[in-house]
Amino acid sequence: MTTPRILLFDSGMGGLTVARAVRAQLPEARLVYAADSAGFPYGAWKEEALVARIIEVIGRLIARTDPHIVVIACNTASTIALAQLRQRYKVPFVGTVPAIKPAAAWTKSGIVGVLATPGTVSREYTHALIHTYAYHCQVFLHGARRLAEMAEEKLRGQAIDLEELRREIAPAFRKRDGKRTDVVVLGCTHYPLLVDEIAKVAPWEVHYIDPAPAIARRVADVLDETPRHEAGFAPPAHGTVILTSAERGAAATLAAYAAMGFPAHEILEMPV
Ligand code: DGL
Repeated sequence: MTTPRILLFDSGMGGLTVARAVRAQLPEARLVYAADSAGFPYGAWKEEALVARIIEVIGRLIARTDPHIVVIACNTASTIALAQLRQRYKVPFVGTVPAIKPAAAWTKSGIVGVLATPGTVSREYTHALIHTYAYHCQVFLHGARRLAEMAEEKLRGQAIDLEELRREIAPAFRKRDGKRTDVVVLGCTHYPLLVDEIAKVAPWEVHYIDPAPAIARRVADVLDETPRHEAGFAPPAHGTVILTSAERGAAATLAAYAAMGFPAHEILEMPV
């Protein structure tokens, strides 16, 4: 069968944490990464506009890459648009949603912190996850406004303001009745890029859940069940990043993608 072609998608660089896990799980696969750099960050978008944007961008990307599977490596996009994407396009999708179920199974104190974008914490999908899997826990959801951008700044080689980081994560750490948060869900794919810094400024030690390895296993399972057609044209080479805006394709950004295994790039202009 032909080499698997996998398209990974995020608003920015966060999905690289998922790409890293997929590459480890499926070293033979041909990976193309796409970032809606023109639309970044997704965290603050209004729901309706964001769904329309994601559907349009993914349509263009599928046409350009002809993938066997699309990984929506973005919680903000998955929690709002996965169902519509599956209705609209025939290719199989694997999404990323906050790892509330494993956190609820892991916690001993029953106090769970979730760090995500303001969009993800407001979604019904996220609240339904809590209702179904973590009804016996106290879950503190925090919509962090700057964390995704800080993660990108780090990858571009800029210094991180640790005081700002401390403030951004603080609401996920809570004490109740002599117990305290013992697990924090990294509910945005950007956040594992900052996990060392987060652990450094956290008020106490907790277990952090990065769902990337579980997503990579899911990708492998879905690929196993998917017949793989030859591409009808020459798709981008393995290790290509596609960006939706040229101005975000500045040297430091491209260097960051190259360092994470995506040294080639294409621009598919899609202004917002
Ligand atoms: N990486 C994204 C997520 O997993 C979103 C970051 C953003 O665009 O705000 O939610």
